[in-house]
Amino acid sequence: MMIEKCGSICLPHMKLSKDTAPTAEQELMAGMVRVNHLFRSALKVAVAQLEILDEEFSTMYDHSPIHHIEYRLKTMDSISEKLKRRGYEVTIDNIYAHIQDVAGIRVICNYLDDIYYMRRLLTRTDSFEIIRETDYIKNPKESGYRSLHLILDVPIMISEGTLHLPVEVQLRTIAMDMWASLEHELRYKSKRHFSENDATRLQLCAEAIGEIDREMQNIYLGEEPEYEANDDADGNPHTITPTVTTADPHFNCPDPAMADDTTDGKKTVSLG
Ligand code: GTP
Ligand code: MG
Repeated sequence: MMIEKCGSICLPHMKLSKDTAPTAEQELMAGMVRVNHLFRSALKVAVAQLEILDEEFSTMYDHSPIHHIEYRLKTMDSISEKLKRRGYEVTIDNIYAHIQDVAGIRVICNYLDDIYYMRRLLTRTDSFEIIRETDYIKNPKESGYRSLHLILDVPIMISEGTLHLPVEVQLRTIAMDMWASLEHELRYKSKRHFSENDATRLQLCAEAIGEIDREMQNIYLGEEPEYEANDDADGNPHTITPTVTTADPHFNCPDPAMADDTTDGKKTVSLG
């Protein structure tokens, strides 16, 4: 699977005058072409490594920690906007110094433990070193957002030698991914007004999803549930109630028996 070539920008396609000294803008454009190429290469290297691991699990074992992988290169407009938002001038040096997510990969895992297993696999050899790590699973964001964010140092071989570049890897479960995409849609994309109440309800959803992720993990491991079974009138233990409930009664965890993973086995790789 290749990273699409159509997203790349190419020096010969740019109308740079050969007669006059290049303007600052032209130099910036040429630098951007280089940035695009180098980070595209780092992205390819990291994605290739993840795909190798995924293929190994699919062919050798009956469980793969990876459900699917998505990846993208940040557009030049988005890089410029981020630099300006953070109060930096748009220069090539500032991109290298302040933007660590030009190349971004999202690894969607099946179970909670798979996230930390993937982290161990990725960093067990000398190939990728962790430059920065933020664990939004152990310490969720105020919004409720949960994922493990790693900035990896990825070496690439170019004509001048070996270059090390940062690649952001976001690791999350299918459930966390569902929450993050809908929350993003509701908060930023949808035309409807996003209220304080919506934000609170989304936080509660994130907590409930956290519980479900733990329960799915326990079911997979064959471990006892973290809730107690309630006996019915005849003393038969057939109803279950999670002991951990959110403040809002609408957010009780569903019966785990109903939590059927209908997406199981589906692996797609989206091109960035
Ligand atoms: P930016 O990359 O500029 O946002 O800054 P940062 O790197 O300090 O932020 P962070 O480590 O929080 O990671 C940012 C990325 O994580 C975003 O691009 C999203 O993909 C994801 N993310 C962070 N917080 C949220 C959130 O509250 N909701 C959703 N849906 N995604 C989030
Ligand atoms: Mg970031």
